[in-house]
Amino acid sequence: MRTQVAIIGSGPAGLLLGQLLTNTGVDNVILERATREHVLSRIRAGVLEEGTTAMLQEAGAGSRMRAEGLPHDGFDLAFDGRRHRVDLHGLTGKRVMVYGQTEVTRDLMEKRARSGGRSIYEAVNVRPHGFDTDRPHVTYQKGGREHRIDCDFIAGCDGYHGVARRSVPQGAIEIFERAFPFGWLGIIADVPPVGPELVYANHPRGFALCSMRSHTRSRYYVQVPIEEKIEDWPDERFWDELRRRLPKATAEAVTTGPSVEKSIAPIRSFVAEPLRFGRLFLAGDAGHIVPPTGAKGLNLAASDVRYLFDALHEFYTEKSQAGLDAYSRRALARVWKAERFSWWMTNTLHRFPDHGGFGQKIQHAELDYLFSSRAALTALAENYVGLPY
Ligand code: FAD
Ligand code: DHB
Repeated sequence: MRTQVAIIGSGPAGLLLGQLLTNTGVDNVILERATREHVLSRIRAGVLEEGTTAMLQEAGAGSRMRAEGLPHDGFDLAFDGRRHRVDLHGLTGKRVMVYGQTEVTRDLMEKRARSGGRSIYEAVNVRPHGFDTDRPHVTYQKGGREHRIDCDFIAGCDGYHGVARRSVPQGAIEIFERAFPFGWLGIIADVPPVGPELVYANHPRGFALCSMRSHTRSRYYVQVPIEEKIEDWPDERFWDELRRRLPKATAEAVTTGPSVEKSIAPIRSFVAEPLRFGRLFLAGDAGHIVPPTGAKGLNLAASDVRYLFDALHEFYTEKSQAGLDAYSRRALARVWKAERFSWWMTNTLHRFPDHGGFGQKIQHAELDYLFSSRAALTALAENYVGLPY
């Protein structure tokens, strides 16, 4: 088989890139290790920047999001038993959209099916080859047979555990990372959210986040030690712990109910440099991970795709390599600013085992300063709604 762009991974990055290419007549194939159902069962991101929603529209996969997504003009930070609002729209003129990653993925998959795009699920042992030449190819196994796809370019959109980044010679890539000593225990429950906007809480018992997927579906998280086991967290314990970390009136307003999903996510910062190796390009979690505080991961996958799609489009329409040559530098410049912001949000809102009294006083001063300085709050808001592309 031959295609122009072979895309590894059918997550948001791969699907969005594939759709933008298909819409402009560039042939592409998506190779995905998991089943379609498995990809759709992963509950992850929930908050989209305006740049991300604009790309979904551009891809032709934005109509359900426009109809069912929840535009949010602000969110609350809770500390010292009180809530303080961050007026995103008042401070920046922008808002964010609450719409689940599962729905984004479903909408993109359906659009791809309608436009006749080729996706190969349950592709085993996907391997990129020859990306240091002008004639790369990808191999995989399916149905007990070995297959080969010749292509012009390979897009590694296969997430943190993918094969693309691992296929690069060790000396050609540099890794920057930081692991945090805690995780996020998250649940989904079909109960109304505690309020119309998100609440991020800094509490002596640890961080908590009240989020949502719709008016009838809530998403909650609590910080837990990294070694915590999900079996030790029956729903009752989760609800009790969540309520203890929220201001009294907020805790009393929480509607509890059986969880429909429960998992623990590790918290880490990770950046691979560069994001381009000859004709192989990394985009999304394949190239970088942010701690979830601040909701940047999926949005960074979208901004990478913006730069990569524009570069490929320029190559196919103008025969110019300039965009491809600039891809890694442009994407990383935005990635590092989001890394900084997510790291800052994480540091400001979580309890760290080694912070001690000094660290907690600094955290408190940081929060106090935020709500006494419009300049500081505007800096938070402009990062939260998403920096320009
Ligand atoms: P992925 O979604 O990981 O997709 C990669 C795909 O590649 C997968 O389908 C995988 O099966 C496939 N794959 C892997 N290896 C191979 C292989 N060898 N061969 C073929 N296919 C392969 N981000 C936000 O922006 N906002 C949020 O609110 C937010 N909240 C989050 C909350 C949690 C609890 C977590 C865990 C993450 C959150 N994120 C958030 C981050 C966001 O989910 C990720 O950044 C996003 O999924 C990245 O998309 P991706 O397409 O790059 O990678
Ligand atoms: C969600 C996740 C985040 O990391 C965040 O900052 C806000 C919301 C969510 O899953 O709803």
